Amino acid sequence: MVNRFVLNAVSYHGKGAIQEIPGIVKSKGLKKAFIATDPDLVKFGVTSKITDLLDQNGLDYVVYSDIQPNPTIENVQHGVEAYKESGADYMITVGGGSSMDTGKAIGIIINNPEFADVRSLEGVADTKNPTVFTIAVPTTAGTAAEATINYVITDTERKRKFVCVDTNDIPNVAIVDPDMMSSMPKGLTAATGMDALTHAIEGYTTAAAWELADCLNLEAISLISKNLRKAVENDPEGREGMALGQFVTGMAFSNVGLGIAHSMAHTLGATYNTPHGVACAMLLPIVMEYNQEATGDKFQKIAEAMGVDTTGMSQEEYRKAAIDAVRKLSADVGIPEKLDALREEDLDFLAESAYADACRPGNPKETSVADMKELFRKLM
Ligand SMILES: NC(=O)c1ccc[n+]([C@@H]2O[C@H](COP(=O)([O-])OP(=O)(O)OC[C@H]3O[C@@H](n4cnc5c(N)ncnc54)[C@H](O)[C@@H]3O)[C@@H](O)[C@H]2O)c1
Ligand SMILES: [Fe+2]
Repeated sequence: MVNRFVLNAVSYHGKGAIQEIPGIVKSKGLKKAFIATDPDLVKFGVTSKITDLLDQNGLDYVVYSDIQPNPTIENVQHGVEAYKESGADYMITVGGGSSMDTGKAIGIIINNPEFADVRSLEGVADTKNPTVFTIAVPTTAGTAAEATINYVITDTERKRKFVCVDTNDIPNVAIVDPDMMSSMPKGLTAATGMDALTHAIEGYTTAAAWELADCLNLEAISLISKNLRKAVENDPEGREGMALGQFVTGMAFSNVGLGIAHSMAHTLGATYNTPHGVACAMLLPIVMEYNQEATGDKFQKIAEAMGVDTTGMSQEEYRKAAIDAVRKLSADVGIPEKLDALREEDLDFLAESAYADACRPGNPKETSVADMKELFRKLM
């Protein structure tokens, strides 16, 4: 059995890490940045933390901000045109998963134009060339798109999100600076942090999990459960812990995959535009309950990583303790348990769409369209 592990060439971590950017750009002889970001980040002065730094260092750039949450095929295609017109020779992605993912797709198409329709990138695409040189700067502590070989694009016409898996898309440099995340409001901090916890728990229990990823995912579960409540209160230590925790699981889940909490979250994102983290957070305990019989003693390790003393507990007890710990964290940070937008008449479509998602085969337990329909129903 051979396992593959793909990571960024370089990553920088900690407060002030963005200060590394000018030195990287100069050392590579890069001339003009294409900054992929979103309109709210421009409005709230998050993108300007990077453009100010470039200005101070006399570095040229163009800002592309036509990117929406749950980014679409059109966002990517307009971005490709904008990149071509920009005269840029590298990219800086500044944002959450939506900006970083759109930047990945743009960079891949620029260097592999035969995939310009975007849909052909779904799954494992046979691209030949690496993306344009990319520095990824996350502004949420959640998706870890700066560290992963995946990106997720929404096909609004077919009401589905599709996952693209491509080692050519990994950003060359990740800059994980908690100061870029400090402007996140409470709700966004909570939701994106629960996305990261979902990565760590699904990644730890996924079919392809192995020791190298396991130790990262367990450490991430511990970091996230210790720091998410504090991050929601904008405590600097909590922000630092979440910036690290989400990245640590990013390195792991990128290489081993996820499970059906993500398949179902992608479907909710495409159908109702539900924020990805909120969808993950609501689904995680429901999916853990469903999967528990197929997870051996893993829920004991999850419960321990979340601070539960499982000494003397039976298998049934520690499995319940792990699920309860997740539910408590989710409730403490204010995530609702039910999704108001969900409609009975949509359940068949949702279940079929989630079953077809690229994350489903990684689920530890064999599933079915009928089972997924019942799992969706629990959100009503
Ligand atoms: N590539 C991957 O491996 C991967 C993994 C998980 C999820 N995703 C995808 O990532 C997307 C979700 O990304 P996300 O959860 O990071 O959110 P996002 O990028 O969609 O951003 C959500 C909102 O938060 C705002 N925001 C972001 N950072 C902020 C900050 N510091 N201060 C104030 N506002 C801020 C944005 O402007 C935006 O309006 C989904 O499409 C999801 O499918 C990708
Ligand atoms: Fe996610």
